Amino acid sequence: MKLLPSAKKIRSIAPSVTEKEISLVTEAVCEGWMDQMNMHLDQFVQEFAAYTGQKFCLPVSHGTDAIQLALKVIGVGSGDEVIVPDITWVASASPVLHLGATVVLADIDDQRWCLCPSAFERAITARTKAVVCVDLFGAMPDYEQIMAIAARHNIVVIEDAAEGLGSRYKGHPAGTLGHIGIYSFNATKLIMGGQGGMLVTNVEDWYRKAKRLAHHGIDIELSGKYYWSNELGYNYNWCNLNAALALAQLRRIDELIEFKRNLFNTYKEQFAECRWIQLVAPIPDVFNCYWITCAWLDPALGINKEQMRDKCLPYNVDIRPFFYPLSDMPPFKGNLTISGQNTNSYKLSDQMICLPSGYDLTAADLIYVCDLLKMILNQAAIDAGLTL
Ligand SMILES: Cc1ncc(COP(=O)(O)O)c(C=O)c1O
Repeated sequence: MKLLPSAKKIRSIAPSVTEKEISLVTEAVCEGWMDQMNMHLDQFVQEFAAYTGQKFCLPVSHGTDAIQLALKVIGVGSGDEVIVPDITWVASASPVLHLGATVVLADIDDQRWCLCPSAFERAITARTKAVVCVDLFGAMPDYEQIMAIAARHNIVVIEDAAEGLGSRYKGHPAGTLGHIGIYSFNATKLIMGGQGGMLVTNVEDWYRKAKRLAHHGIDIELSGKYYWSNELGYNYNWCNLNAALALAQLRRIDELIEFKRNLFNTYKEQFAECRWIQLVAPIPDVFNCYWITCAWLDPALGINKEQMRDKCLPYNVDIRPFFYPLSDMPPFKGNLTISGQNTNSYKLSDQMICLPSGYDLTAADLIYVCDLLKMILNQAAIDAGLTL
């Protein structure tokens, strides 16, 4: 099979913007100022709390801010260790270092591609204060086991659901399985506000402290004074314009999840007969939103994630590499204890790619991407002397 380059650039990710988003953002631009400066933001918080069922929801500028606040309110600081899966976006771990604590990177498991419970338990020491447990690309770890281990060792579980919103574990929404949950609404996410994040919890003290820290340490109820800072804080307040955009998206969340799941199912069907590529296997206790469809390339072909990306670029198709193990990158190398070898993290990372998963993909785009990948994989199999 011979393919010409796609006339359209097939992006790795793209948002879905409709008249609903344009209308709410226009309303925010025209009316959301002065005493109405939080009109869409407050509405978003109310509807997000209803969606997740969490008592306290704190909107912030980024998901990264929410992780920083979560760690700060539980008292993480110098001398403490925080366990993070070795495969995740750097933002799951960088706030730990910013707070002067140590990141301990644990392996992922090869079925769920998320934190492996036994690797988590092996990484625990007397200094472990928390774990940042990540719902990677919409997949979810075995929370029953994770929470049981955390309870035995008195460890706080921060669920990083930046990529998990829309997924469920045994019916519970992603972001609500740990003691504190965080979300991201950056432009790539399942629902987006350009930028944005959220911290959720059922623990009022943590919420109040996080709220104070997110706004320069100001708490009028505590001090009785306007502009009075009670403690050193940050400026992590979210902007109403971003919230208006995210609000329109939240109201379309079911449709957006369905789009992503259909995308995954199409990829699955298309690759059913191609033994060189595999998608994540369904896990019975997880309803996966498939924020991004990831695929594993058989190493027997001799093509890794970077080579596949390079081969697709001339065809105008943007294949992204899976995350690199954090333990291989400069910020985390000198400042951690690698528990064990993290074999799965390294093995999977090399061979995993992120398939185009944007809301702008048409059925024809999808078929093109699949035909292209099959063409490359089959050629590589021939070159490697493997039977098709
Ligand atoms: C797993 C994970 N954690 C945290 C974040 C941080 O979110 P944000 O980009 O909103 O700061 C992201 C977003 O890219 C993410 O994918």
